[in-house]
Amino acid sequence: MIKSRQELIKAYIDFFKSKNHKEIPSSSLIPENDPTVLFTTAGMHPLVPFLLGQPHPLGKKLVNVQKCLRTGDIEEVGDSTHHTFFEMLGNWSLGDYFKKEAIKYSFEFLTKILKIPKEHLGITIFKGNENAGKDEESAKIWLELGIPKERIAYTIESNWWGPAGATGPCGPCTEMYYWKLKNKKPPKIFNPSDKNWVEIWNDVFMEYNKTKEGKFLTLKQKNVDTGMGVERTLAILNNLEDNYLSTIFLPIIKQIESLSSKPYSNEKNKKPMRIIADHIRAAVFILGDEKAIKPSNTEQGYVLRRLIRRAIRYAKLLNINKSFTIELAKTIISLYEDYPELKKNEQFIIEQLKEEESRFNETLEKGMKKFNEIIKNNKNEISGKDAFLLFQSYGFPIEMTEELAKEKNIKVNLKDYEKEYQQHQELSRTLSSGVFKSGLADASETTKKLHTATHLLNEALKIVLNDKNINQKGSNITPERLRFDFNFSRKLTNDEIKQIETLINQKINESLNVKREEMPLKKAIESGAGFLSNIKYPEIVSVYTIEDKKDKRGFFSKEICTGPHVSNTKELGKFKITKEESVSFGIRRIKAILEQK
Ligand code: SER
Repeated sequence: MIKSRQELIKAYIDFFKSKNHKEIPSSSLIPENDPTVLFTTAGMHPLVPFLLGQPHPLGKKLVNVQKCLRTGDIEEVGDSTHHTFFEMLGNWSLGDYFKKEAIKYSFEFLTKILKIPKEHLGITIFKGNENAGKDEESAKIWLELGIPKERIAYTIESNWWGPAGATGPCGPCTEMYYWKLKNKKPPKIFNPSDKNWVEIWNDVFMEYNKTKEGKFLTLKQKNVDTGMGVERTLAILNNLEDNYLSTIFLPIIKQIESLSSKPYSNEKNKKPMRIIADHIRAAVFILGDEKAIKPSNTEQGYVLRRLIRRAIRYAKLLNINKSFTIELAKTIISLYEDYPELKKNEQFIIEQLKEEESRFNETLEKGMKKFNEIIKNNKNEISGKDAFLLFQSYGFPIEMTEELAKEKNIKVNLKDYEKEYQQHQELSRTLSSGVFKSGLADASETTKKLHTATHLLNEALKIVLNDKNINQKGSNITPERLRFDFNFSRKLTNDEIKQIETLINQKINESLNVKREEMPLKKAIESGAGFLSNIKYPEIVSVYTIEDKKDKRGFFSKEICTGPHVSNTKELGKFKITKEESVSFGIRRIKAILEQK
């Protein structure tokens, strides 16, 4: 009997390994080189280049457990099933097996390994629309496996997955549902909108690529992408209807009970306790990620701030008046020993939580007073000015003001709030650029070029600044520009910036070949390939070399990297640095563009 998340994860990975899949490590929660999305939202996310056709160094069949975070419905968290952070199990076929094998594997894992009786399963299938036809093939496979036709339902919306952003791989999917009631037999006819059927697994048949123009082009290869939520599945295996009572959350809930001296069993305590448990767990994973994100007012840091502050507000409702985030964080870190980055970054996690908690505690009470004053005078709407005041002077994230207002049936004038915000701050990406709408790395020609330019820049910095220890601390590429963070202790001089540009443009003009190779990680490092110390690499990696006969090593740059890149530097155009600035202590940032020659 599977009781813990570790057992479930092991069973899944072992099962797919026995079917010749190779295990890949969980990627960072913060996507590298993807400007359109703040967090990794699914196991397939880091695999986009491979779903689009680039060969994966470990082959065509992969399996893993991926840490994911979805910010779309933070305010929904508080019921028995919603989470922000979650773990997703997934198996992939990159142009190898397709529907038949994928569905058979799913069925075998559910019924033989998890021992879920097939009588408790319901299946949804893509009904067909103008982009793709009805998925008769999947339905036939399920019928052959013994699922009765009454238990197969056809839908359109929920049976098409992706692309996660505006463009990228996508396709029809078949979802598996489980009848969760113990004391009531599953009905003969499956109805996916009946809340007692819970979705547990999704097999996506990624055979299309949605283009910018909205066209669905057939991909070079037919892929399978699947996703099974660990939290939800474990609750089912634990025979529970409330995810927060599963072995994943129970120790956290118990600690919140003891901090508040209140029982979880009391209906009115459930929502705040779930919010605290979910949000602090997510905050620990964001802070514990190697990218060292801190609470702030932009991008990932802003989501982190929202999570921590929302948890603090709900802790107040439980009358938890002492500092509580650190104690919970310690428990969470000890529960997730299989993510060593949490232990490694424990001190950072604790420091940041402590600071954010005391910062918000200073203003929360006064802010609540102000909020109550505001709504006394404005019964229908909170103006943009007032919402901005709550943000600026009392640290209320706008979403918190909205949530508080909603509880009193009052609206917030978001449009005016945004105007106020933009007048007061420099353009806020978080609110204005649509970065919350999750999306995927676009592998267009422009971003490919900027990616290769990033490799040239990484090397040029070492040479011009005469410091071999310089390394990438962050990279973010949009179709317009590259952004590169690196360790260096002072501002670059104008002369140095010029020299860097000149060296890069010289290497572009020398028309250097860019070679891609696959090799074991150890060999790659031994051969001098650059790598990032904060990334977990698989055993076999791809290495991109910008060859250079003039260099005694035979190359100008060599880096472990998933790509994609252009094949020759001559494709790049003219490299130009547009900005050089400090991001934090000891870290500099360069923004650069490629101009047409
Ligand atoms: N990408 C799909 C999902 O997120 C399957 O993994 O559900």
